[in-house]
Amino acid sequence: MRNDLALIVGSGFEHLGFEVLQRSPGKTPFGEPSSPVLTVALAGRQVLCLARHGETHSIAPHAVNYRANLWLLQQHGIARCIGINAVGAISAGLEPGQLAIPDQLIDYTWGRPQTFAGEAGRPLAHVDFTEPFDPVLRAALVDAAIATGCLSVRGTYGVTQGPRLETAAEIARLERDGCAMVGMTAMPEAGLARELGVAYAVCAAAVNRAAGRPGSSGIHAELEIHGAAAMARVRTCLEYLIGRL
Ligand code: HPA
Repeated sequence: MRNDLALIVGSGFEHLGFEVLQRSPGKTPFGEPSSPVLTVALAGRQVLCLARHGETHSIAPHAVNYRANLWLLQQHGIARCIGINAVGAISAGLEPGQLAIPDQLIDYTWGRPQTFAGEAGRPLAHVDFTEPFDPVLRAALVDAAIATGCLSVRGTYGVTQGPRLETAAEIARLERDGCAMVGMTAMPEAGLARELGVAYAVCAAAVNRAAGRPGSSGIHAELEIHGAAAMARVRTCLEYLIGRL
């Protein structure tokens, strides 16, 4: 089967235990991608994958070359892309260690190159972004997360600039804005995918309670406890989904 699905995997890549079969480096008009395109074995299939923070986890969220990453993947002929993103839980219903499939986002980032419009031969277009995630791919992820018992919540993903974590007041503001989860990487990734016509959805792994939330004990301690479990759930959910593509 022609492989038109890619994964962009963030923090916790190493916990996914992917067997890398091939590495395909590439150049783009937008500079260096975070990693080569990796072909990994998953659920008996070969799936394309890119390590958002680099294979040695050295690229901070604000410094990721999101444009190069999406451009390179599109050169490999992908039509669909799942972002795997670690997030902090804002909503009380989102348990660290569990998965959340966002249905909306609010972009609080700044200063990140966020469009291809008018560059590299691309037209100046205003893409519709009312629904930032592809409904079909999102629904497939929700089904997979429910079927494997991994789904905690749906909801809005607030994208912060990082790399520092938020203050308690910033998280309280995100909550008032309606965010169920907070992370640093869904934008501009989702917007760039939309510009390229790539169907994009996010499988978010809650690895901590966001700053100032009841029970929060700091990301480092919580990552130790929940990080590996959350990534094991990501893998289970992806295997279910990919086995049915
Ligand atoms: N805030 C922002 N990004 C994150 C968090 C958080 O608490 N946890 C994982 N990514």
